[in-house]
Amino acid sequence: MQVKAPRGTYDILPNDSVKWQYIEKIMKDSAESFGFREIRTPLFEHTELFQRGVGQGTDIVSKEMYTFNDRSQRSLTLRPEGTAPCARVLIEHGVFSGVMPVKWYYQGPMFRYDRPQTGRYRQFHQFGVEAFGSNNPYLDAEVIILLVEIFSRLGLSDYELHLNSVGCSVCRDAYRQKLLHYIAPLKERLCQDCRQRYFQNPLRVLDCKIEACHQAIVGYPTIYDSLCPYCQEHYSRVKVALEDNGISYIHDNNLVRGLDYYSNTAFEIHLPGIGAQSAVGGGGRYDGLVKALGGPDIPGIGFALGMERLLLALDRLGKREFSQPSLDAFVVVMNDSYEMQGLQLLNELRRKGIRADKDYGGRSGKAQMKYAGKTAARFVVLVGEEEVEKGFWTLRDMQNKEQFQLGQEELISSIRCVIEAK
Ligand code: HAM
Repeated sequence: MQVKAPRGTYDILPNDSVKWQYIEKIMKDSAESFGFREIRTPLFEHTELFQRGVGQGTDIVSKEMYTFNDRSQRSLTLRPEGTAPCARVLIEHGVFSGVMPVKWYYQGPMFRYDRPQTGRYRQFHQFGVEAFGSNNPYLDAEVIILLVEIFSRLGLSDYELHLNSVGCSVCRDAYRQKLLHYIAPLKERLCQDCRQRYFQNPLRVLDCKIEACHQAIVGYPTIYDSLCPYCQEHYSRVKVALEDNGISYIHDNNLVRGLDYYSNTAFEIHLPGIGAQSAVGGGGRYDGLVKALGGPDIPGIGFALGMERLLLALDRLGKREFSQPSLDAFVVVMNDSYEMQGLQLLNELRRKGIRADKDYGGRSGKAQMKYAGKTAARFVVLVGEEEVEKGFWTLRDMQNKEQFQLGQEELISSIRCVIEAK
């Protein structure tokens, strides 16, 4: 039986990996220009980190985690997201005792056992940022401005930024009671999942994708109307800061996010037109997370973008030319007996920063020339009897077909001169 990639995973071949490199570079450059620095955490963590961080009642923890016991019977989980691991690092390395805020970015694979469809995978990739150590609403604005900056650098202008405040634990608890009370007589009209959510986390009924559930609860009390004075003030300062920086947003009463750690500012960025999975990124404040994981009371805010969904959006924009890395030189060895000289020359070219390659398939000189043409190398260097005996190399410019006989130093500087001018 042929072994295939597991369901919900896929391979990225070289023609596509250039697109990834393009997006990753834009994200990295944008984050660094905002003072964020890269962090890398393990692909698996103790299961407890996500149970306590993301929340037992969330879809992620209750049904989507790849959890397994290792050979020492420790329960480990492939990371479904990157915020809880960053909070763990902050605590474990005592980073919180240094200068705050701490601003990190990360990218890499995440794992969720979800039903695969366009834009939804079991191994997917996120680019995320986390800023710990300040609850200043201007930091919320800065994080959202970075998100929008990434979209603008990618040429994605038709996004919708949804914004809400989910309040602090005090106003959210009071709101929860109000919502339970409102939904109680309407429960029978909700979908199966929402009936479950009613008991576990009634706020999640608000962001159910099923229209009938929205119809059932029309006129529900909003969290916005239940915010305490601190949360109200915080939210309005975030909104003013965004407005003053020319960022448009949609206040969205239904936006509650699917992870338990959020408090105050919550946001999502959507690209209508990329299919059912239009939420390309999401984030918010998580002021209680570090404390819930056993650390000090340190606030935080961040977001994560789904790379696959961004790629879908870029593809939809139409054919964009992504430059493929090409060879500068191809060494053609005219006769087997000069293989060693060919290999030595190849190594020298590479050491001098020239992207070079040769054939290892035992092809004839003519076939190697044909192969060199396919690699789109700008130059071919011929290694034949005359070259080896007389101590020069023949350089052929594949663009204008001109040919020169040059010593090694001259050869290298001629190639470098052309590639540096590119
Ligand atoms: P999230 O909303 O669960 O938030 O995920 C963020 C983004 O990851 C989504 O908007 C989506 O683009 C992408 N994503 C999620 N699941 C999948 C999937 N199965 N397949 C493809 N893409 C997916 C978080 O993960 C939070 N940690 C974000 C955050 C950072 N909040 C504060 N800091």
